[in-house]
Amino acid sequence: MRAFGEIWESNVFQKWLMAISGLLLVGFLLGHLSGNLLVFMGPDAINEYAHGLRTMLHGTAIWIVRFGLLGTFVLHITSAMKLSRRNREARPSRYNTVEHRASTLASRSMLYSGLLLLTYAVYHLAHFTWGVVHSEFYPKASPTGPESNGAEYIPDVYSMVVSSFQVHAISVAYVLAMIMVGLHLNHAIASAFQTLGVRNQRFVPVIRMVGPLLGILVAAGFSSVPLAILAGIVK
Ligand code: HEM
Repeated sequence: MRAFGEIWESNVFQKWLMAISGLLLVGFLLGHLSGNLLVFMGPDAINEYAHGLRTMLHGTAIWIVRFGLLGTFVLHITSAMKLSRRNREARPSRYNTVEHRASTLASRSMLYSGLLLLTYAVYHLAHFTWGVVHSEFYPKASPTGPESNGAEYIPDVYSMVVSSFQVHAISVAYVLAMIMVGLHLNHAIASAFQTLGVRNQRFVPVIRMVGPLLGILVAAGFSSVPLAILAGIVK
C-alpha cells in the first residue's frame, strides 16, 4: 500500500497522469467540436444529435461520460497543481539560468490558463447544461412536463445556442475563452508527448507542429459558432 502511495506521489507518475488525462480531454474536445459544428446543418441536425446523446443506453451513456470526464478533469487539475507547487518549491534561488526561468514561465502560464479554463467550464455548464445563467435562453419544456404532450421530447439546443450567441457579450466571452483553450493546447501537446517519452528525432518536427495546429483548429472551430451567429450566417 505504501509502495502504491509512493508511486502515486512521484513526479514521474503525476506527469504521466497529467499527460494522459490531458490527451483524453483533447479527445473530448474534438468530439464536442464535431457535435457543435452540426449547428451549421440546421436545427434538426444538432437537436437530434443532443437528443441521441441524452437517450443513448436509456440515458446511462451520458452519465458514464459525465463521471469519466469529471474524474479526468480532477486528475488533470490536481496533478498540474501538485507539479507546479513542487516546481516552485524546488527553485534553488531567484537568480536562475535563462533556460530554467523560461520553463517555469511556461509552466506558470499553463497553470494560469488552466485555472481560467476551469472558470470558463463552470460558467459554460451553468449556461448550457444547468440553465442557471442566461436562463432566459434555456429550453422551457421538460421531458416529463405537460408540454411534451406524450411525444418524444427533443430539446431545442439549436435555439438556445443561437439566441445566446446573438448577445454580443456572451459571444465575446466564448471567443476569448476559446483563444485561451487554443493557447493552452499549443504548449500542452508538446509537453505531453515529451512526458510520454516520444523523443524520436524523426517525430520531433511533427510533434512541434501538432500543438499549434491543434490549438488553432480547436480555437477557430469552436469560435466559428458564435462568430457565424453574430454575423447572421446562422440564425
Ligand atoms: C463555442 C464553444 C462551445 C459551444 C457552442 C458549446 C456548446 C455546448 C452545448 C450546447 C452543450 C449542452 C449540450 C446539451 O444540452 O445537450 C455543451 C455541454 C458541455 N460542454 Fe460545451 N461548448 C463549447 C465549448 C466547450 C469547451 C471548450 C469545453 C471544455 C472545456 C466544453 C465542455 C462542455 C461540457 C463538459 C458539457 C457538458 C456535457 C454534459 O454533461 O451534458 N464546451 N456545450
